[in-house]
Amino acid sequence: MTTTSFLSPNRIYQGDARKLLASVQPDSVALSFWSPPYCLGKSYEAHLGFADWSALLSETIQSHYPVIKPGGFLGINIADILAFEDAAMPRIQADNISAKKVKITRDEVLTAQQANPGFDKYQLAALLGCSEQTIDRRLKHNNVRGGKSAPQTRVKLTAGLIEQWAADAGFYLYDRRIWVKDPCWENSRWHSLSYRSVDEWEHVLIFWKPGITVVNRQRLEPGEWAEWGSRGVWHIPSVRSNNAHESQFPPELPRRMITLLTEPHDLVLDCFVGSGTTAAAAVSENRQFLGFDLNPESVKLFEQRITATLS
Ligand SMILES: C[S@@+](CC[C@H](N)C(=O)[O-])C[C@H]1O[C@@H](n2cnc3c(N)ncnc32)[C@H](O)[C@@H]1O
Repeated sequence: MTTTSFLSPNRIYQGDARKLLASVQPDSVALSFWSPPYCLGKSYEAHLGFADWSALLSETIQSHYPVIKPGGFLGINIADILAFEDAAMPRIQADNISAKKVKITRDEVLTAQQANPGFDKYQLAALLGCSEQTIDRRLKHNNVRGGKSAPQTRVKLTAGLIEQWAADAGFYLYDRRIWVKDPCWENSRWHSLSYRSVDEWEHVLIFWKPGITVVNRQRLEPGEWAEWGSRGVWHIPSVRSNNAHESQFPPELPRRMITLLTEPHDLVLDCFVGSGTTAAAAVSENRQFLGFDLNPESVKLFEQRITATLS
């Protein structure tokens, strides 16, 4: 007789989410909440082209269906791809009459950086009297304007793709919220020479697996249902000084998802766990957790974090 061994709760496992999901106990996860690679070229996703990224997300969503408990939820936080390269797109002939040249040079930024080794881009910007995106441009040469030195880019919406992949897997779109963070200039390379807005908000898509869902608003603190539980727009500042991980959740984001959608002791999964924010929120809210990440550093980061959370 063969026995199947499933992954143990309250641990972070290193590996590919798609493979590890196959070893999660069926119908055991009350909420899986995660933020995947966004196809924006961050260091942990630089190897992924659009086709690879689509395969990663659609396969991960597909592998979730067996493990979510009936009546449970899959929550996905994602942004649209604001600089989606499209070589076939006609060139934008940007004739910018409103741009003002900032006189700060790269050498001035480097000198200020050497004189103040601990300064981040915001502190350097305050010191030199310019914006943090000028600091970025001078240091990283990302002065890519309207397609002069890079392929043309356009906006690509992600929510519809994810809705389709989730529907193909058997889920239903139950709700969607907008997370308003703060303006992120670095991902808006075109901003200085176009009419496009900066990167300022992300989607939170909530999918449901058919089954009985207990609706218990008493889990929220008094006032929370009115303040944010019933609201479609969540204002939560993003994590800015991000030494631990490039794209950390603000703890309030998973905390809201967990308290709204799960009961104490329920199992919460994050299959792109990064620095472990969802898992730490699960522990704080007296839920069980399970986390996966390709990067072995995540396991180490999480161990440090959980020690801090428990203490
Ligand atoms: C957007 S970050 C998640 C950040 C996390 N929410 C936090 O608060 O720190 C995405 C994470 O997915 C991981 N990742 C990328 N591809 C993966 C895969 N195939 N399986 C598991 N993890 C993966 C990356 O290493 C990265 O840590």
